Amino acid sequence: MPAASLAALVCPVCRSPFTAGSGGRSLICPAGHSFDAAKQGYFNFLTGKGTVFEADSAAMVAARFDFLSAGHYRPLAGAVAELAAPFLAEAGSTVLDSGTGTGHYLRALLDRVPAAAVGIDISKFALRRAARLNPEAVNLVGDVWQPLPVGDDAVDVVTVVFAPRNAAEFARVLRPGGRLIVVTPRPGHLAEIAGQTGMLGIEPAKEERLAATLAGHFRAHEGRDLDLDLRLAPADVANLALMGPGGHHLDPAALAARVAGLPPRTAVSARFRISVFEPLGSPQQAGKR
Ligand SMILES: C[S@@+](CC[C@H](N)C(=O)[O-])C[C@H]1O[C@@H](n2cnc3c(N)ncnc32)[C@H](O)[C@@H]1O
Ligand SMILES: [Zn+2]
Repeated sequence: MPAASLAALVCPVCRSPFTAGSGGRSLICPAGHSFDAAKQGYFNFLTGKGTVFEADSAAMVAARFDFLSAGHYRPLAGAVAELAAPFLAEAGSTVLDSGTGTGHYLRALLDRVPAAAVGIDISKFALRRAARLNPEAVNLVGDVWQPLPVGDDAVDVVTVVFAPRNAAEFARVLRPGGRLIVVTPRPGHLAEIAGQTGMLGIEPAKEERLAATLAGHFRAHEGRDLDLDLRLAPADVANLALMGPGGHHLDPAALAARVAGLPPRTAVSARFRISVFEPLGSPQQAGKR
């Protein structure tokens, strides 16, 4: 773990900066709170009682890893990296990937623009993979609905790909002029297979909700819509169904039986919106700009 990635972190207990020990395998703050890396290299920052949640299971994480590794969403990863890169160009820039999952999108971003990086997710199964994929980042098990273990104005870009959004915390950790990049599905996303696989549909008015939850903390910049025409094998369709929020409720055996009846390739459209926001900042900060 490079020192640059560590610099953005604060202790989740007392909010002091950390120093690294044991060759980067432990973090310790001046008050003596210490965290040891798990075997795979991530740190577990879940302290005390947090949000009641159902973390992604090992099977859901494995499905996401297999689907994303096959490259079906590569253009999306490329587009996120392209939009983030200008804000990470200066030496010492830092990106936070919130709800990093298996670290797939953060990997694509760091391949395009090397930067200090923090990945956070509530699923330790996801973090095991993210820590292997992104060893140059600090990978944390944590809850984005709690205060983030990141300093004020400490990051240049926050990326959130299909994951929860804590607007107040993202605004706090972003420097003035930084960017929040959010990927959400658009209506019609994966519509061809939603019925067959028992996937959860897209909630209506998602886009309005995104703008509403970020209002007061962020102003919107021009985003980008991205449509992909996928041709998926039955195993890809099963992975897609299992990796989403519906995966908690799907019986893998029943799903396997259903996709067994599919043709060798199924045409599926993926419809994404990549939204870009800038923090409004405090009134003093706004005056300085
Ligand atoms: C649909 S997945 C997307 C993962 C990754 N960004 C990707 O696109 O591959 C949503 C992620 O959000 C994480 N998540 C859900 N609630 C969370 C919370 N309260 N704090 C941190 N992560 C959370 C899940 O564990 C999961 O990895
Ligand atoms: Zn501490």
